Amino acid sequence: MGKPVIQVKDLYKIYRIGTNKVRALNGVDFSIEKGEFCCIVGTSGSGKSTLLNMLAGLEKPTKGQIVIAGEHIEAKNESQLVNFRQAHVGFIFQSYNLMQNMTAIENVAMPLTFQGIGKKEREKRAIKMLKLVGLGKYMRHKPGEMSGGQQQRVGIARALVVNPEIVFADEPTGNLDSNTTLEVLQLIKQISREKNQTMVMVTHDNYLAGFGDRIIQIKDGKIIRNIDNRERAQQQMDELINGTATMPDEDPFAPAPNTAVTAAQSTEPPKQETAVQPAAVQESNEQAAKAEGPGDKPVSIWDEVNETIKNEGGDTQS
Ligand SMILES: Nc1ncnc2c1ncn2[C@@H]1O[C@H](COP(=O)(O)OP(=O)(O)OP(=O)(O)O)[C@@H](O)[C@H]1O
Ligand SMILES: [Mg+2]
Repeated sequence: MGKPVIQVKDLYKIYRIGTNKVRALNGVDFSIEKGEFCCIVGTSGSGKSTLLNMLAGLEKPTKGQIVIAGEHIEAKNESQLVNFRQAHVGFIFQSYNLMQNMTAIENVAMPLTFQGIGKKEREKRAIKMLKLVGLGKYMRHKPGEMSGGQQQRVGIARALVVNPEIVFADEPTGNLDSNTTLEVLQLIKQISREKNQTMVMVTHDNYLAGFGDRIIQIKDGKIIRNIDNRERAQQQMDELINGTATMPDEDPFAPAPNTAVTAAQSTEPPKQETAVQPAAVQESNEQAAKAEGPGDKPVSIWDEVNETIKNEGGDTQS
């Protein structure tokens, strides 16, 4: 850490709709260090996506400078931007943006075709990456045959397979439930840490932003806070890894906090599975177990992820 990899100076983006001007970015300055996990947080319409798209060279600023890995993004033409993105940048989208008629392997291998890598090597690297995100068993599945969380893990594998220096993610967990959100977030953070990649993630969720080493809060196109959050990020990450993290519950049907008794708080000993149960309960439990089937038991993706990191050092380059 210490060396800025992204520097933004006096950045403006003004959209003109008829006679109306929208200042989506209204004078933004910041820098992000190499290896940092930076979260850009703000309410809807605050300018988060506009900022991220500009950093990734997907949109041109109205005014200002963006220097990434020593190169001025705002001065590049379209084909230079394409080359720049291929060389330095990975992108994770909220809606996954996978090719529906392609398998997971084919989706992940795709960015490697643009780098002129041969088919066999592409497939090898895609498989390694899919194992790293815990999808070893789903490599031949198409997006329609996977859950949202699995599809996003394919999206992550596709973004990371080229081993980019910088990864941009716009609400990568926006379409996922809270458990899957935490799983995907942990995955993104662990892999980017492992590879010393710089990660810039956009979210509207303050709790998720709390995982950032740096939090940049944006409102009406301006930065209103830029916080060094390393300590709290580490704490939240530790909670996530040891399984005590939960996303703040906004479910209106959830029991009120004072009525909820968690396992840790409960004074009753946990029920043993072998405890004698009324016949009717026993029967319905058996039926439920049959309906679920032995293979449907939720398995942590971390067994496979950790195994892959251990065996392969988590390296996508071979
Ligand atoms: N192509 C465009 N043309 C005109 N106005 C735009 C365009 N893109 C964004 N805007 C406006 O710029 C402002 C910032 O939009 P932006 O998409 O960056 O917000 P956001 O923070 O990503 O919001 P959300 O959380 O809803 O995705 C909004 O007022 C939006 O209406
Ligand atoms: Mg947005």
